[in-house]
Amino acid sequence: MSEPAIDPGQAPAELIVYGGMVVNADGRREATVVVDGGRVVALLDPALPVPVAARRIDATGRIVIPGGVDPHCHIGQKLGAYTALDDYEHASIAALWGGTTTMIDFAIPDTYEADPVVAAERRRELAQGSRCDSALHGCIVRWDDGAEAQIEQLVELGIRTIKMFTTYEGVVMASEPTILQVMRALKKVGGLTYVHAEGNHIIRDAQNEATANGTIDASGHAGTRPLVAETTAVSEVLSIAEYVDAPVYFVHQTTPEAVDLVRSARHRGIRAYTETCPHYLYLDESVYKGEHPERFVCSPPIRPAATVAELNRRALTGDIDTIGSDNCCYSTEQKLDRHDDVTEMPNGLPGVETRLPVSFTQLVTDGGLSLERFVALFSTNPARLNGLGGKGAIAVGADADLVILDPHETRTVSTDRLHMPTDYTPYEGRELNGWPQVVVSGGRVVLDEDGFHDPGAVGRALVSEPIAAGLLT
Ligand code: URP
Ligand code: ZN
Ligand code: ZN
Repeated sequence: MSEPAIDPGQAPAELIVYGGMVVNADGRREATVVVDGGRVVALLDPALPVPVAARRIDATGRIVIPGGVDPHCHIGQKLGAYTALDDYEHASIAALWGGTTTMIDFAIPDTYEADPVVAAERRRELAQGSRCDSALHGCIVRWDDGAEAQIEQLVELGIRTIKMFTTYEGVVMASEPTILQVMRALKKVGGLTYVHAEGNHIIRDAQNEATANGTIDASGHAGTRPLVAETTAVSEVLSIAEYVDAPVYFVHQTTPEAVDLVRSARHRGIRAYTETCPHYLYLDESVYKGEHPERFVCSPPIRPAATVAELNRRALTGDIDTIGSDNCCYSTEQKLDRHDDVTEMPNGLPGVETRLPVSFTQLVTDGGLSLERFVALFSTNPARLNGLGGKGAIAVGADADLVILDPHETRTVSTDRLHMPTDYTPYEGRELNGWPQVVVSGGRVVLDEDGFHDPGAVGRALVSEPIAAGLLT
């Protein structure tokens, strides 16, 4: 498109993006995006004159989507004996390269006894190194006399989402009574309970069996966390949510059975939500029989191909609400340290940078998902389900977080072209679409054809507003 005419009567703007197709979760239109003071100040008909701008970006032939909101990032996570290798600086730089402009991290207490408020305060300090905006989920492992006050303190810190685990016994596992009480308390403050749902009793039994028959190493990981463990825990937690009449969000769901439980609960009026991750959509359990099974050890595990196909089908028919990376930057060395025993290994895969291209390729390029629905999964729904009002849409008044991409451009993934501080990617050698060509974060152009422009530690710690009003239907 030729450059739009300038209206000399208008005050100069910081940035305009013209010629592109602006895609939001609720529709698309050709528009000139005008950015000032870090926000979108106008969306103009492309035929109209635009203000003088310090920077003009031509997005002709490309799409412009809202910056990604990653609802599930572990940054420098210590879980068990291993600490992931990233910090806020490196994670946010990798996130921005990958089109994610808001990361939501977990303030998981380092030890079972630790105070969730102290954990959140420490995370907030670490977040000062962030190049992009970030928010936090709290984490509670045990309900006791102080827990209700702790939740109030977390809300004062701007945190309204609290994660609990039904597994990782002796580390962060929370009991059903704890989950019930946290849900009830969070309901009062417009919060949302996040749950990692895998039935620990089944996992423990499967692990004991694997130890006995010599398959407890990384190549046997899938067998130690069976599909049914996920089904049983989701079912139990949904019953608690129904009883308390409180909303619940299931992180990293991997099975069609679990997704269907959530969807049918939703049909009964229970406010329950499903997140999945790129690796559960793109990979299958054959990775555990390859050269580096340890690199793919995450919980829940990567599932059999038939399960993956069914999970994808649900993502394409609208039964999944968000896509989170579950980013955990461990190195191959850390993963190999105890690869002989998955109960001792660091869990999780690096992914904050590849969330967009992996899920875009799988769902949009190969699956035919609409761009609008993709934007909902990648940005809009995570923003709404975390009470982040300024995020998740390209709209007047919203934060100017934009990603410009050419859906037809393909790149081959290689670790040395990525920016997460680890030595591998689960997608090495894969051909992916959906790579960001330009990224604007808070009105700053941080990625363009000249590469990355480090904005410095400008990321803000975001406050979650009450979430109940923004729940999806
Ligand atoms: O394997 C995983 N997912 N590691 C990170 C911690 C968690 O369970 O989310
Ligand atoms: Zn988890
Ligand atoms: Zn996680």
